[in-house]
Amino acid sequence: MTAKIIDGKSFAEGLRGRIAGHVERLKTEHGITPGLAVVIVGHDPASQVYVSNKAKQTAEVGMASFKYELPEDVSEAELLELVRRLNEDDQVHGILVQLPVPKQINADKVIEAIVPSKDVDCFTPANVGKLTIGLPGPVSCTPLGSLMLLRDQLGSLEGLNAVIVGRSNLVGKPMAQLLLRDNATVTVAHSRTKNLADVVRGADIVIAAVGRPEMIRGDWIKPGATVIDVGINRVPAPEKGEGKTRLVGDVAFAEAVEVAGAITPVPGGVGPMTIACLLANTITTASLING
Ligand code: GUN
Repeated sequence: MTAKIIDGKSFAEGLRGRIAGHVERLKTEHGITPGLAVVIVGHDPASQVYVSNKAKQTAEVGMASFKYELPEDVSEAELLELVRRLNEDDQVHGILVQLPVPKQINADKVIEAIVPSKDVDCFTPANVGKLTIGLPGPVSCTPLGSLMLLRDQLGSLEGLNAVIVGRSNLVGKPMAQLLLRDNATVTVAHSRTKNLADVVRGADIVIAAVGRPEMIRGDWIKPGATVIDVGINRVPAPEKGEGKTRLVGDVAFAEAVEVAGAITPVPGGVGPMTIACLLANTITTASLING
């Protein structure tokens, strides 16, 4: 039996429609136009695409979109100064500094400079703490988008075995917090986990967030499991012509689709949800800032 393909693109479209409705109400009933500032340093092509998509979709839901492009050799002090200005700017309710940043800049320092009330990535220590103890605030975008797809697919997650492969601050750790909140039984596996394939075989829910192309094989998947593939890896695709590439996830999709109950594709699965959740977080911060 082949798995249901979870259509994150269409789910994200629906979510953006609902967000546009919230934006309209914030404008007409409260006189607030939520504003999102996105900062990109340098010209990494993948980051450029992500940032352009973020700016375009921000404008499409009716929010104010502010884009700052800084040169590759900008100093840490200049970037910190921009963050401080955005912290003070009343038109800006969300600040995102696209990662990675060039090596002369300490990313942790930049993240900590963002005022938590505008931290739409949920990267600052204060917001990570709030997420962990369940206080209101922004929620990490990729984990939130993954959770929405899981709830849509499975309804309640209570008592299900969830295995997250990857322990990053960006995805693995916050994903564990969100799944715990939904009463799943959570295992966070990683590169040093012994018998990783066997650990994954026990999972009703697999979250693949390890950043290694097609590492998770079809025979690691429990029949009927729900698989959320967070990986976005560009690999050579000689079959498409010399020098061509294609995107693959962290799961060997062609194998896993034969075993899983439902699975997200790459592209078109979790990716579009991340941006939609960023916009949702901007509504949250705009509403919280304005009481
Ligand atoms: N780079 C890749 N993903 C992200 C993200 O979700 N937020 C930021 N700030 N940078 C990223």
